Amino acid sequence: MSTAIAEQPYNYKVVRQFTIMTVVWGVVGMAMGVLIASQLVWPQMNFDLPWTSFGRLRPLHTNLVIFGFAGSAQFAASYYAVQRTCQARLFSDRLAAFTFWGWQAVILILLATLPLGYTTTKEYAEIEFAGAVWMAIVWVAYGVVFFGTLLRRKTKHLYVGNWFFGAFIVVIAMLHVVNHLSIPVDWFKSYPVYSGATDAMVQWWYGHNAVGFFLTTGFLGMMYYFVPKQANRPVYSYRLSIVHFWALITLYIWAGPHHLHYTALPDWAQSLGMVMSIILLAPSWGGMINGMMTLSGAWHKLRSDPILRFLVLSLAFYGMSTFEGPMMAIKTVNALSHYTDWTIGHVHAGALGWVAMITFGAVYHMVPKLWGREQMHSVGLINVHFWLATIGTVLYIASMWVNGITQGLMWRAINEDGTLTYSFVEALQASHPGFVVRLVGGLFFLTGMLLMAYNTWRTVRAGQPAVAYVSAATH
Ligand code: HEM
Ligand code: HEM
Repeated sequence: MSTAIAEQPYNYKVVRQFTIMTVVWGVVGMAMGVLIASQLVWPQMNFDLPWTSFGRLRPLHTNLVIFGFAGSAQFAASYYAVQRTCQARLFSDRLAAFTFWGWQAVILILLATLPLGYTTTKEYAEIEFAGAVWMAIVWVAYGVVFFGTLLRRKTKHLYVGNWFFGAFIVVIAMLHVVNHLSIPVDWFKSYPVYSGATDAMVQWWYGHNAVGFFLTTGFLGMMYYFVPKQANRPVYSYRLSIVHFWALITLYIWAGPHHLHYTALPDWAQSLGMVMSIILLAPSWGGMINGMMTLSGAWHKLRSDPILRFLVLSLAFYGMSTFEGPMMAIKTVNALSHYTDWTIGHVHAGALGWVAMITFGAVYHMVPKLWGREQMHSVGLINVHFWLATIGTVLYIASMWVNGITQGLMWRAINEDGTLTYSFVEALQASHPGFVVRLVGGLFFLTGMLLMAYNTWRTVRAGQPAVAYVSAATH
């Protein structure tokens, strides 16, 4: 807090709530990831029950980590950053509290319905109609709180991090509503208004932009706030951040068809998706470089600050996955990678390396501030977490690369007489060692997450809910 005249405290309560739930859903969602990874090693882990079968728990894993973990992290970070950069309390405490409880209800709906087999079958949009409507209501409330706070700001300037958070909120609302347009038959079943290739196109327009906005744009907002804060340096280039924003927003929305190469989708649409994906490399790397270069003159801090290390490594993984993605979008490369574990490796390079790591950095930055402590209970444990997460991610993605390329090559191998060289089961057998390594990587990653939960609990227990005041000198 500064010496300037204190007006009113920030609303840290809702930030604290979302921060705790980020950790909780992180543990639950990743434990589910480890469970389904073990099912791929030992099929007995399906327990011969429908509710615990891979087919039902896989979407539960994706929904828990995306909406529970990554969603709560973005609510927490955006509410924290928007107040501090606008020097204004959140627009409405009640509505903010509604977004917290409403969003937790969404996750509970997912937890209850997906294992029972209620699903739209659209990936990352599995929640059935009634749940989807509730989700939209909560999301609109989020938009009102966020944009309402921007309107109340005492700063003239609108910090670039808020642009990214704002775009994330607006675009996710649009994607969610359009993709969920369906005719409900009852509370638990609905059918999309689209059919055939159109339905597939709408779904992957949604799916790719769920990646682009739910797993990227909000996290770039996080990057623009937490990297400069933790490094104690200004953003490397403010001009680049504006170019980054507009280029990213303009291009992402066109890339969806790269999920539908060699399908019934018109060829021109597939090629357009491919070209847009390749061009997308430029803004992605522009943003990554802007984040990395913010450390100019502060690189030495990496030696002593594991939080900064998390943030910087997340940018390195962001750079890596946004290089890999455009390559996989090239039709001839996709002919090899599609349907294989290569895609799964790419997903987790982004999900573990980028999304989870930047979240860890942001949470470790916020927790002491939210509970009035100098630092986390144990900086040593943050360090251990850092190494567990790094080794876990590398094991995960390296094993999936090997598996993916092996599968792709075995599936396409043809004898001289035109028959297949390998049966599907042979390719599956060849993948088994990779599944084991992925499971070990997942266990490393989950162990790190558990250490984070312990460290957070100890910090919270030793602290008091902090009060920070809106004032001219607090950013
Ligand atoms: C301990 C950490 C994790 C483990 C062990 C894990 C494991 C898995 C496994 C086994 C699958 C199914 C792969 C398949 O069908 O062959 C999967 C899918 C997926 N996971 Fe994870 N996961 C973890 C963390 C995360 C996180 C943190 C995120 C997101 C923030 C994430 C997002 C996804 C997505 C989006 C898919 C679906 C990929 C696709 O359909 O191509 N995972 N995960
Ligand atoms: C320039 C950036 C990127 C491009 C062009 C891109 C491109 C691609 C391509 C071509 C696929 C494979 C589609 C298929 O064969 O079915 C894919 C899958 C995927 N990517 Fe990326 N990617 C990018 C960045 C990222 C990042 C940063 C993340 C995560 C945070 C991510 C998450 C995913 C997920 C979850 C899938 C699996 C979708 C599914 O089939 O379920 N991507 N991406």
